This record gives sequence, structure tokens and C-alpha cells, in this order.
Amino acid sequence: MDNTIKKLVVLLVPMIVDCLDNGLARTPPMGWMQWERFRCLTDCEAYPDECISDKLFRTMADYMVSDGYLEAGYEYIMIDDCWTSKERDNNGRLLPDPDRFPYGIKNLSDYIHSKGLKFGIYADYGTETCAGYPGSIDHLKTDADTFAEWEVDYLKFDGCNSDWIFIDKGYIEMGKYLNATNRPIVYSCSWPAYQEPNNMESNYSALAETCNLWRNWDDIDDSWKSVTGILDWFSGNQDRIAPFSGPGHWNDPDMLIIGNYGLSYEQSKAQMAIWCIMAAPLIMSVDLRTIEPKFKNILLNKDAIAINQDPLGIMGRLILKKDKMDIWTKPLKPKEDGRKLFAIAIMSHRVDGYPYRFNFTLGELNITDSNQFHIKNIFESTSSVIVNDKELIFTRIKPTGGALFVVTQQK
Ligand SMILES: *[C@@H]1O[C@H](CO)[C@@H](O)[C@H](O)[C@H]1NC(C)=O
Ligand SMILES: *[C@@H]1O[C@H](CO)[C@@H](O)[C@H](O)[C@H]1NC(C)=O
Ligand SMILES: *[C@@H]1O[C@H](CO)[C@@H](O)[C@H](O)[C@H]1NC(C)=O
Ligand SMILES: *[C@@H]1O[C@H](CO)[C@@H](O)[C@H](O)[C@H]1NC(C)=O
Ligand SMILES: *[C@@H]1O[C@H](CO)[C@@H](O)[C@H](O)[C@H]1NC(C)=O
Repeated sequence: MDNTIKKLVVLLVPMIVDCLDNGLARTPPMGWMQWERFRCLTDCEAYPDECISDKLFRTMADYMVSDGYLEAGYEYIMIDDCWTSKERDNNGRLLPDPDRFPYGIKNLSDYIHSKGLKFGIYADYGTETCAGYPGSIDHLKTDADTFAEWEVDYLKFDGCNSDWIFIDKGYIEMGKYLNATNRPIVYSCSWPAYQEPNNMESNYSALAETCNLWRNWDDIDDSWKSVTGILDWFSGNQDRIAPFSGPGHWNDPDMLIIGNYGLSYEQSKAQMAIWCIMAAPLIMSVDLRTIEPKFKNILLNKDAIAINQDPLGIMGRLILKKDKMDIWTKPLKPKEDGRKLFAIAIMSHRVDGYPYRFNFTLGELNITDSNQFHIKNIFESTSSVIVNDKELIFTRIKPTGGALFVVTQQK
């Protein structure tokens, strides 16, 4: 093995001793969540097809199956905020809004399971959720038990309206109650998203011991600016957070916004490329009834998903900035015959209005070897090349666009 590659691999081996061991999320979770696209729309009289309701989740579940998302790996369908009544019931239990969820949550959960999907729900550690619905702070055990009874498979546990400095404690406690239910529930935490923006470095050892995934930073909005802002934070903090990514525990830069209003086709490929190379959870938030085929094809791209779901679970890192391009690399599980595999993602910050002819070498990315490498451009499957580590690789990247490559060592 070449020394440089050896060094790279050693550097990237997670250094975690104890991790949450509930057997779940061995690869980054994939699914669909309401929030970025449908927010807290509760007016079902005015917007019957878009409001947060039983009908919305059943419809999306149907599309997840009929349009190939489940088959591609997107298996969780998740309710976000705004599903409950404004008050708990007489026994202190969370109660779905009776008009919007007339059959109750267990009935919806059964429907989603009957389609072969898994079911996720939302709660908040604080006194109220972010949108002002009942919080869980004095009801952790009750809520964990209720979710298990409803056969929930995934909990997004938010952190609005809580004391963010000491918030870890509450998440760890909730994790114990979830474990005690005996139902395997993917546990998505948000505590860094409340600490890091306040200039407090979160305890990632504690996160990996407690949670299957965690939101590190700000919520995503439907814009390129939001995507690049999130990536500035992730790349700027990658050496601190990447070692904690691995099977069962993931950094989460928030939802995919592909197919909505804010990203162009090229920007959508860039988001997919970087989310895949970061081993980020792939959580869509888009109207599956109306998404245009070209965006759908990005979300369903098998090679991109395979990079994201690579069994080693290494979070790729930004390794080179050149010509206003960010280049990220990620070691993938080697081939059975021992040949090395990598992924490369490029994201352009150029706005010059034409496809920029960009060149780089593998050597510049610290991928050096005496063997040649086969390079496949996965969004443009017709172009692939074989190069050594010094030969220039040319690719044309459209303004604020992205590209993703699989690099295979040759014999
Ligand atoms: C869900 O509720 C509907 C309407 O009341 C009912 O027809 C159906 O049998 C229920 N499904 C389950 C799984 O209980
Ligand atoms: C509870 O925690 C134990 C110890 O880490 C683990 O073996 C078990 O799988 C967990 N159970 C559930 C349901 O999460
Ligand atoms: C971080 O969490 C770990 C594991 O729970 C704990 O051992 C350690 O003391 C914590 N570090 C700090 C600085 O609180
Ligand atoms: C690439 O390798 C060189 C030489 O070993 C090293 O100085 C540099 O830090 C490496 N770059 C990255 C981003 O790992
Ligand atoms: C490769 O890109 C550099 C800019 O990074 C440019 O100066 C050089 O001319 C390019 N090489 C070729 C052969 O096009």
C-alpha cells in the first residue's frame, strides 16, 4: 500500500470507543420528511392536499413505493413538527390533532408499515416544540413509551425552548427511556444545532454514545446560499467532526432540498454529490407528487446512493480548493480483490455563466499510487477515463454545479 494512502486511511479511522449500539442506521438513514417543503402548514380547509395531516403522509408513502424511492433505499417516512394537539391528554400523553389525524398515529403507522416503509415522528426536549406545540421535558418516559406503542421506528428529537448549555443531559436521559422500551428506534438528536451556533463545541463522544445521528448546524432553507453556508461550517469543522461518523452514528447536515424551488438542476447535483460524499443522511423533503423527472433522477441515482451507503461509513472531507472549486474525497470499502476505491465530489462556486473546464490530478488530492485508476463521472455516465496519479483529469462544471466520481484502482 502506498504510504500516502495508508496515512489517509489511518487518519480517517474513527477513534470512538463506545457507540450507541441499537443495531440501527448501519448506513446513513434514507427517507422523506415533511419539514423543509411543507413546514407547519395546518390549515387543511385552505390547503387540503398540503397540510400536515394523515392524508399527506399516506399519499407520500404511496409515492415512495410506486415511484421507486423505497426500492432505491429511501425507507423512512417522517412526521416533523406540528402534528400534535396544543394540549396533552388527561394522562399527560401526546395527542395528535384530531382533525388532521382523525384515525390516530398508530393507524397511520400501521398503514406506513403495510407499504414496507418505516415510520418516524418528531418531538422536542424543551418546554414547547419549535412551532409551539407541547414539549417533552417533563414527559420523557411517557413519550418514549407512547412512541414505542405506536411502533415508531425513528425519532427526531429537537431542542427548541430548552437550556442549550446543559441540553446533553436531557438527550441522554431520553435515549435511556427509548432503549428501555425495547423497541429499536433510530434516535436523531439536535443538541449540537443549539450549541455550535452559540460558539460552544459539542461533545461528539457523548453524541456517538447516545444518538444514531445528530443535526450539527442550522436548519436548511430552500436556497443555494443555505446549502453553501452549511457546507462552509461542515468543511471548516471536518477534522473535529468527521472521526465520529460511522456505522450507527452520523453527522447530519439536514434535508435534501432537491426538486423544490430554490436549487437549479446543477445545484441539485452539487447537493447530492456533497451529501453523498459526506455520508450524510439522505432525507428528502419535496412534493413527490409533482417533482420533475430530472430532479427525481438525481435522488434515485444508484451510484451516488452507493457512495453514500458505503459500508465503511467514512465522512469525506474537503481536500482541495482550486479555481473556486471545492474538491472532496472519501475512501470507500475496497473491492474484494483488494483494489482501492474512492469517491471524489466537486462543487463549483463559479458564477461566470459558462461551463468551466477544470483540471486536477489524483496526486493533488493525496491519492497517489503506482497503479492507474479508472474514473467514472456518475452524473455523465458516458465519460470515464483511466489515468495515473499525475495525469490531468478534465471535467466541465457548470456554474454553481457539482460532479461526483467513483475512482477504482486498476490491476
Ligand atoms: C384505520 O382507520 C380506518 C378508518 O377508521 C379503518 O378503516 C382502518 O381499519 C384502520 N386501520 C387500522 C390498521 O386500524
Ligand atoms: C439497549 O442498549 C443495549 C446496550 O447498549 C443494546 O444492546 C440494546 O440493543 C439496546 N436496545 C434497544 C431496543 O435499543
Ligand atoms: C464527553 O462525553 C464523554 C462520554 O460521555 C465523557 O466521558 C466526557 O467526559 C465528556 N467530555 C466533556 C468535556 O464533558
Ligand atoms: C496531503 O498530503 C500532504 C503530504 O503528505 C500533506 O502535507 C497534506 O496535509 C495532505 N493534505 C490533506 C488535505 O490531507
Ligand atoms: C489546468 O488548470 C489550470 C488552472 O488551475 C490552468 O492554468 C491550466 O492551463 C490548465 N491546464 C490545461 C492543460 O488546460
